[in-house]
Amino acid sequence: MVAMVSCLACVTCDACFTPDEHTMTCPRCGPELGTLDYRFDLDTLATRYSRPAISEGLATWLPLLPIAGASSLPPLPLGPTPLIKASRLARHLGLKDFWLKLDSFLPSLSLKDRASALALAQSAEWGSTTIIAASTGNAASSLATLAAATGQRAVLVVPEDAPRAKLAQIALHGGVLVPIRGTYDQAFDLSTRVAALQSWYVRSTAVNPVLAEGKKTVAMETALQLEWRVGDVWYVGVGDGCILGSLWKGLSELLALGWIDTMPALIGVQASGAAPLAHAWESGRPVEPWPLTDTCADSIAVGHPRDWVKALRAARASGGAIRTVPDERIAQAMRLLADHAGVLAEPAGAASVAGVLTALEQGQVGKSDRVVALITGHGLKDQAALRRMFRAPTPVAATPEAVLAAAEAWRRNGTRE
Ligand SMILES: Cc1ncc(COP(=O)(O)O)c(C=O)c1O
Ligand SMILES: [Zn+2]
Repeated sequence: MVAMVSCLACVTCDACFTPDEHTMTCPRCGPELGTLDYRFDLDTLATRYSRPAISEGLATWLPLLPIAGASSLPPLPLGPTPLIKASRLARHLGLKDFWLKLDSFLPSLSLKDRASALALAQSAEWGSTTIIAASTGNAASSLATLAAATGQRAVLVVPEDAPRAKLAQIALHGGVLVPIRGTYDQAFDLSTRVAALQSWYVRSTAVNPVLAEGKKTVAMETALQLEWRVGDVWYVGVGDGCILGSLWKGLSELLALGWIDTMPALIGVQASGAAPLAHAWESGRPVEPWPLTDTCADSIAVGHPRDWVKALRAARASGGAIRTVPDERIAQAMRLLADHAGVLAEPAGAASVAGVLTALEQGQVGKSDRVVALITGHGLKDQAALRRMFRAPTPVAATPEAVLAAAEAWRRNGTRE
């Protein structure tokens, strides 16, 4: 079944554009206030489509996606990603019903593949030959990975200091890698200008509404995996705000279809050194750019968030919030995930769990609450972050005695029997 898009609506003035116009943002409200939402004819959909029993990844949600069919999607496994009950970590934290959604298992090792897949599908359907994206690293490495499977041309503009592994992904997958001497925020403005000059298809967050459609599938997939009992509170790391906004959109559509009964509180987590959205949330004032970002979580080091209208709407409408965590807390969350759950997350991917740790400390989460944390990126994508947290032991002699002595020393110092 092809999705029944009723309109592309401006989030600020509610103007309605038809999908055939290929409008990206509302010309009256501009690229930030005028981001667009795909709206579907959910009443009709509800009569023709019922809750899927199992997830087959992105294609499960085709009736709720604005593309013509599954054949436009890249031929790579696009979910479902694991949702794990992190029992050992949960026990350690004193939580009874704690879940981790591992989008770090997608082909490029980050959640961004959900959005890139939709962008590649749509650009192919529109007949665009080149796609350009600005990225802190993951969106670009994702686009390059999936474009390698479809053969489309992708131009990726990233800050030169993006993690090496992400740059390597882009280059090895045949993306046109353009590192700039500048920040992600500059990369964003540059890619928009170049796209306009060349009429290229833009896969930059917020200004392309189809990206939110891809990202909303993580919420729908998680709801299905939880047997439609979505629980009390969900946590996710926030940079531009697109994932947070998309969680709310996906869950709102499930509510409208009558497939879930409640909306969890959606909590966006920012690093305290790059927190323009959390600041706006706390002050109740419009978002002001953060002049100098300073955090180990490169993927969410965003000074000028582009999807703030939708992010603030998600936090407000779900009864959630946007909070901050210091880098030390992110590092603590990375360690706990690694040694209590077997999950290696990059700093931005662990920010969600850092938010849970702080919420527990401040009594904002009940021990029996159903809590979901999204792990949005894999730890091996940012090896500098890992190196900062780990000191390799001094090598020992290649003898059984030396190995046993080392194991005994580790047992005495370690926490595990
Ligand atoms: C691993 C990871 N987590 C979280 C985010 C935040 O997503 P958003 O910019 O949509 O808020 C990003 C964005 O780059 C990311 O790569
Ligand atoms: Zn408008």
